[in-house]
Amino acid sequence: MTRGAIEVRISSPEDADAVSKVLLRSYGTLYRGWYRDDVLEKALPVMTRANPVLLSSGRYFVGLVDGAIIGCGGWSAQRPTGGVVPRLAHLRHFATDPDHLNHGCGGAIAGRCFDEAIACGFSEMEVISSLTAEAFYARHGFQQVAIVRQPMGGVEFACVLMRKRLERNE
Ligand SMILES: CC(C)(COP(=O)(O)OP(=O)(O)OC[C@H]1O[C@@H](n2cnc3c(N)ncnc32)[C@H](O)[C@@H]1OP(=O)(O)O)[C@@H](O)C(=O)NCCC(=O)NCCS
Repeated sequence: MTRGAIEVRISSPEDADAVSKVLLRSYGTLYRGWYRDDVLEKALPVMTRANPVLLSSGRYFVGLVDGAIIGCGGWSAQRPTGGVVPRLAHLRHFATDPDHLNHGCGGAIAGRCFDEAIACGFSEMEVISSLTAEAFYARHGFQQVAIVRQPMGGVEFACVLMRKRLERNE
């Protein structure tokens, strides 16, 4: 079957159900083997809920194939854990449906986030990456800063805090 090209557009609050579905399909499938099942059972219901603040921020994107949402991700000036550091931007809530992995959706959305953050005057970007996505972010120029444990649904979820410099013409 021929697959349509990936389109990226800014999300809206109406995308909440489709984004939650992508988050659940992605995290629910791809985190297996990286995290213990008992940790996932507690953390997944919390982390697979689409974030309404991100969805309506104008800085969150969905990737579509043939009109259906198959990926998501975005950026914010606000830290995921709260607070703002001047000129430091944050990548947020990336996921691609497992049936659409490795076709460029995550990279297209990440590229758009880098370009916009640079245009808005940010000079660095951080991401709190899952263990699963560390290699993806490393290939986009992020370096590990520390292993961090995020409280999530009553358990601690091991993540990699990563950072990259934002430069024009990437
Ligand atoms: C991380 C994640 C969002 C990446 O999504 P993706 O849409 O598969 O990303 P891309 O397709 O842009 O890139 C993945 C790979 O496909 C390759 N690729 C991209 N377009 C391609 C194409 N047209 N043909 C073949 N390969 C391609 C990329 O080069 C990249 O390869 P690399 O990893 O060896 O560098 C996805 O793996 C995911 O959902 N992971 C689990 C959830 C997660 O951890 N999210 C992050 C939370 S912090």
